[in-house]
Amino acid sequence: MRASSAEPARAKKFMVAAANPLAAEAGVAILKKGGNAIDAMVTTQLVLNLVEPQSSGIGGGAFLVFFDAKAGRLTTFDGRETAPAGADPKLFLDEAGDPLEFYDAVVGGRSVGTPGTLRLLFETHERFGALDWKTVVQPAIDLARGGFDVSPRLHDLIVEDGDRLKRFSVARDYFFDREGEPLKAGMRLKNEAFAETLTTIAEKGAEGFYEGPVAEAIVATVQNAEGNPGRLALSDLANYRVVEREPVCLTYRVYDVCGMGPPSSGALTVGQILGLLAPFDIAGLGPESVKAWRLIGDASRLAFADRGRYMADIDYVPMPLKGLLDEAYLASRSKLLEGERALAEADVAPGMPPFDHAMLLGDDTAIEFPSTSHFSIVDGAGNVVSITTTIENGFGSRLMTGGFLLNNELTDFSFETHDADGRVIANAVAPGKRPRSSMAPTIVMRDGKPVLAVGSPGGSRIIGYVAEALIAVLDWNMNVQQAAALPHLVNRFGTFDVEAGTDAVKLAEPLKGLGFAVKEGDLNSGIHAIAITPRGLEGGADPRREGVAVGE
Ligand code: DON
Repeated sequence: MRASSAEPARAKKFMVAAANPLAAEAGVAILKKGGNAIDAMVTTQLVLNLVEPQSSGIGGGAFLVFFDAKAGRLTTFDGRETAPAGADPKLFLDEAGDPLEFYDAVVGGRSVGTPGTLRLLFETHERFGALDWKTVVQPAIDLARGGFDVSPRLHDLIVEDGDRLKRFSVARDYFFDREGEPLKAGMRLKNEAFAETLTTIAEKGAEGFYEGPVAEAIVATVQNAEGNPGRLALSDLANYRVVEREPVCLTYRVYDVCGMGPPSSGALTVGQILGLLAPFDIAGLGPESVKAWRLIGDASRLAFADRGRYMADIDYVPMPLKGLLDEAYLASRSKLLEGERALAEADVAPGMPPFDHAMLLGDDTAIEFPSTSHFSIVDGAGNVVSITTTIENGFGSRLMTGGFLLNNELTDFSFETHDADGRVIANAVAPGKRPRSSMAPTIVMRDGKPVLAVGSPGGSRIIGYVAEALIAVLDWNMNVQQAAALPHLVNRFGTFDVEAGTDAVKLAEPLKGLGFAVKEGDLNSGIHAIAITPRGLEGGADPRREGVAVGE
């Protein structure tokens, strides 16, 4: 489990680290024009929507952690999708009251939540942007009209998704040729419909999306999805609000690790993992130590037990937000890690964090699968963007309108409403509610100044990927490229996922020896990080995807 010798990308003034070179370069071009990190964020996101359409875009939701250099203040913006007003708690149950099969729920209109990404881009740009809105939208319009080369990863994912992506005609006609063959890597692809949508948005701002023809087309697509219609209505779009929330921070050694609070479980679960590890000498043990991984794995299992019980949309469910990161609570939970072997299944139960409500919640049953994108940006003034953005599943609901895909974020809710003992599940569906997320865009502060922006896709494994990258940089002194490339070991629910074909496999037998179940497989993270160091900016891009870190 040695760190690779990889060097980070370096820059003096500004940098973008994102999952696709065209998107990162478009962001850098905006920074060169005098744009700031928020301007570059808008452009990078809109280009990602075009060139990495399976992962994120204006049909989905996003969480932004932002350091505003002028105000010297860290804040977060919640652009998570909401359940339509017409949704009810039984949305994902069949007539017999049993949960639907995952893909039966995903593919079609039922899973589509009210998208939040565009309003997040627009409102944060209104508040913090330096260039005008049209200027930051234009690069994606030009690329959609002029065309771009289909990336190998996009080609592979179209092939893998096969029949699901062919189920609805708009996506089928876009992602497959007339003979029904998937778009080939390197082929030039244009997206006139997206160029038109963006032109409306460039002229009218968020209203061009949340009202009028674009909104009408979204609603018609969802409500008329054959075999699996949804309940998204024009009023849901018109009423959508971005919520500014306090960052959730945990002090870890000399750092404040800050990120996105509920409805994301990201910062709380990453924070719990680090808090549980705080009493142990993870730095001294190092990345090759089985003991270090036992501790990280079991800390993560304990954190996931709390996540499953307590974490959901805090605007709907009372949550022990402070209690979950309470120092004394974490110190007492940490004692569970003092043995020599893996925790027994029976010992991995949720704890009782300090809380002023009665706690009668059941554990959740949500499932999460691949797509999503994380990008980080630092500009010349010291503003920092750490944003994780998603349409949930690869290609989302597979419904497409206006040249972009619609999310299936509602399947991030628990399908079941109650557990076997009749206790309510915190993450159950409710009208207007935001599904619990695992996205963990993070900014690490030291003495009130940002030193690292990091995040990843990966469903609920995001939490493990981000915790590992933080430990790699903060404890093991790796640079961000080494941290992004570090082989993964992730434990959420008991089984240690070990990344196949890497050095992590060497730890499989020793971990089995400690009593863990171990499973080897692909662990497809997409870490895009920027460290702000005394030597300048250092960027890391996950070698498992197509991303780059570029700057000047
Ligand atoms: O919000 C979430 O946690 C999920 N919808 C994210 C999905 C994801 O990261 C898929 N990953 N590869």
